[in-house]
Amino acid sequence: MKITFSTPSKPKSGAIATGVMAERKLPPAGADLDKQTGGALTRAMAASRFTGKKGELLEVLAPPELPNSRIVLCGLGDPAKLTAMDLENLGGSLLAHLNGVGETEVSLLLTKLKGRTIKVAERAARYAYGAVLRSYRFDKYRTKEKPEQKPSLSKFDVMLDEPQAARKAFVELQKIAEGVFFTRDLVSEPANAIYPKSLVAEARKLTKLGVQVKAMGEAQMKRLGMGALLGVGQGSANESQLLIMEWHGASKAKAKSQPVAFVGKGVTFDTGGISIKPAGGMHDMKWDMGGAGVVVGLMRALASRKAKVNAIGICGLVENMPSGTAQRPGDIVASMSGQTIEVLNTDAEGRLVLADALWYTQETYKPKFVIDLATLTGAIIVALGNEHAGLFSNDDKLSQQLTAAGKEVGEPVWRMPLGEGYDKLINTDAADMKNIGNRSAGSITAAQFLQRFIQEGTPWAHLDIAGVTWTSKDKPTVPKGGTAFGVRLLDRLVAEHYEG
Ligand code: BES
Ligand code: MN
Ligand code: ZN
Repeated sequence: MKITFSTPSKPKSGAIATGVMAERKLPPAGADLDKQTGGALTRAMAASRFTGKKGELLEVLAPPELPNSRIVLCGLGDPAKLTAMDLENLGGSLLAHLNGVGETEVSLLLTKLKGRTIKVAERAARYAYGAVLRSYRFDKYRTKEKPEQKPSLSKFDVMLDEPQAARKAFVELQKIAEGVFFTRDLVSEPANAIYPKSLVAEARKLTKLGVQVKAMGEAQMKRLGMGALLGVGQGSANESQLLIMEWHGASKAKAKSQPVAFVGKGVTFDTGGISIKPAGGMHDMKWDMGGAGVVVGLMRALASRKAKVNAIGICGLVENMPSGTAQRPGDIVASMSGQTIEVLNTDAEGRLVLADALWYTQETYKPKFVIDLATLTGAIIVALGNEHAGLFSNDDKLSQQLTAAGKEVGEPVWRMPLGEGYDKLINTDAADMKNIGNRSAGSITAAQFLQRFIQEGTPWAHLDIAGVTWTSKDKPTVPKGGTAFGVRLLDRLVAEHYEG
């Protein structure tokens, strides 16, 4: 799909889209169209339930006066209240509608209006960004698709008085979308395509953007004492990897400042290991590398938009398999931190991987903060469903920044408690800790486990993204499948607070 911005003119073919304010009020461009068509829009609205509420769409087949196929009215509600995210959602919903009806091109008419907080060029860019985000498809393995099964829309044009300014704003957003798409690709790929080494190979593509990409294999991790991570991967024929990405983008004055660090759980497939999962739904565990996928896509977004920040991305990459060499329930492993862990359930593997990845990150980089992302627990889905990611943190400021950024981009997080009482639940007689608690508070005991690998003074946040990494329902800017939840959130966090 080609996105363009152009100065207003009468579109000679395809669909026309225009906004409608609350109570069926047409903006100038829409009022013009209505006049040209002898009031066809007014009549169509009156004959339907469409009132211009935010997010409503009404399709009107173009009357004979026009050379176009159709006119799509997009409800704006109170335009003074529209946020950037609302506009993205409108763009995404419009795109999905047009693909649904088989339209091939659309011109979206925007007008400068008084009382709007968001400038028209920025509005145009946000519509286009939303459309792009929704246009994502993972179809590389579909060899037999008929033309009518493919998206029909090939041209998305936004008409406004300042197309140049809109183009400029859009170029920046497009870079974030590239990061989002990269993550969605990684998450969507099956585990026979994405395993630790192939994920590293994908990440190496970021060197073109100026990211330094390194990886460690098992021998090197063994030397560093990463027994927790290595134990998880020891049953697999695929060698475990630690992926290390560095982006040095801070301004000269801040070139030596502490980096921000992002750590991802990259279990490229989670069978559960010897504590094996039931067969039903096990295929979902191809996206148990969602945290790592987000970290890679985020690094791509930061590097492509040349973010003025020093950022580190670390991913623990393993495949959790049962086999003759697999770790057994009851095994005791020593982590890089020196702390020992009794592995009572081999399916609670994500925390084991993160324990060493987090410790390595802090030892090596002394970061300003560390944020980890992980499809860590089924329990977070019980608690928060598919609406919010779970946020666990030792730092109120970082938590507030994450919560605010999440609301702004539509990737909301909800803070969950931590505390000594929960921490006690992972004590055991045989070692320093065990990798599971009892039946209760499963997401919290997992977070408490991670916190035992956070050094005094390091601000830390853990995002449990198990409920939001994959969606079975289309959303305005997220088609069903891998969501890349976290890329836009963390890009926004960095842009708002950590660049310079
Ligand atoms: N990867 C799973 C968590 C998960 C479940 C992610 C569903 C996405 C959807 C994780 O490794 C796991 O198996 N967790 C166990 C922990 C338990 C054994 C303490 C769980 O949540 O059941
Ligand atoms: Mn598991
Ligand atoms: Zn897992």
